[in-house]
Amino acid sequence: MIKQETSSRPFFYPQPGAALHCGGVSLESMARRFDTPLYVYSADQIVERLRLFEQALAGREHLVCYSVKANSALAILKLLAENGAGFDIVSGGELERVLAAAPEAVGRVVFSGVGKTAAEIDLALKAGILAFNVESEAELKLLAARARKHTIRARFALRVNPDVFAETHPYISTGLREHKFGIDIRRALGIYKSAAKERWLEPHGVSVHIGSQIRSAEPFGAAIERVSKLVRQLRREGIELQTVNAGGGLGVDYHAGAFDAAAKVEEYAAAIEDALGDFEGRLLIEPGRFLVAQAGALVARVLYVKRNGKKTFVITDAAMNDLIRPALYQAWHEIVPVRPRAGKARVVDVVGPICETGDFFARDRKLAPVLPGDLVALLDAGAYGMTQSSNYNTRPRPAEVLIEGKKVRLIRRRETMADLLAPEVV
Ligand code: LLP
Repeated sequence: MIKQETSSRPFFYPQPGAALHCGGVSLESMARRFDTPLYVYSADQIVERLRLFEQALAGREHLVCYSVKANSALAILKLLAENGAGFDIVSGGELERVLAAAPEAVGRVVFSGVGKTAAEIDLALKAGILAFNVESEAELKLLAARARKHTIRARFALRVNPDVFAETHPYISTGLREHKFGIDIRRALGIYKSAAKERWLEPHGVSVHIGSQIRSAEPFGAAIERVSKLVRQLRREGIELQTVNAGGGLGVDYHAGAFDAAAKVEEYAAAIEDALGDFEGRLLIEPGRFLVAQAGALVARVLYVKRNGKKTFVITDAAMNDLIRPALYQAWHEIVPVRPRAGKARVVDVVGPICETGDFFARDRKLAPVLPGDLVALLDAGAYGMTQSSNYNTRPRPAEVLIEGKKVRLIRRRETMADLLAPEVV
């Protein structure tokens, strides 16, 4: 079963009866060495996914700005920067991460987000980022004021809201007028025209982001078509934009089964390219999930298997504080035993030790047999896993390892109780 999935996931069983591997490394040996819960990422797949975008967009000047929020591990940022990526950030904190991991890439950073503070704007202006994705007129006003104060011209793109519906979970859909994101596209022309008169503002581009985990290419094309129309209107007004930013949002397949990542990226790129029409500038995109989700797994140990009434609960040492996606979005993560046992699959709930009924990874899921002490891997956990983790229930966050071929690197040590208690006073 897993064998067919190797094109979309870097985790595989080298032979029947063997433990699950990532690259040349057994997850059993990883768990022995670094303990559990443990995030394991394949560097090779992350680079491979970046290449898919590079190849699909080769016909036009472009920049892939990896969305840092998906997985902000410094080692992963460095890996992506070394392979030519830029970054999409949404906070001063994420900018600090880019500066720590790959300061040479700061000129390839775009700054999105509906609530930038003056301090964050100052930090980004002084660092010399590529552009601000501005989400309101008030923010544009603040940007102009900070730019004037520091006498640094601010390149900006208006993040427009194209009023395009994209089929995804309501919490991660962003492209409708009723959402808090962006500026109504019908108002953008007027805002560009008055901003063009500002000495310290440079209308650099236009950006759009319609949501996340979008499986079809069609809504991306629809959004860019609307953006292209705006670009043409602006050109007629004498405002020549250099970049169109199509945002992120391309989804992966969280369910089992074959998934052709290369075909998906090509279809996505073609939809955008078609919609760009005669635009001759540079295309920016901000993928997060597509680059890192399937490269990562969360490895956990089974603590107990218990029955309550008709239900069987598999209780692992990982919990919703380590990976909140199932609890927050009813997201599906495939769960596989690291070393499969003979025997029949059973319908179980896979849960963590946290004192909440919402602390589950899977409900009524058919799972291969597992016993206490066994390891399981929660697949496709590389995006929005560790970045959305917390210390709820005073649980130290997991360690993270990055695997490159046979090379294993601990890129974040497990938190200690001292780390957790350090900021507090009694
Ligand atoms: N650009 C902007 C402006 C964004 O808001 C996002 C994601 C991205 C790019 C990257 O989107 P991606 O390519 O990763 O879909 N925590 C949720 C996902 C939240 C997405 C937020 N914005 C989850 O676990 O599904």
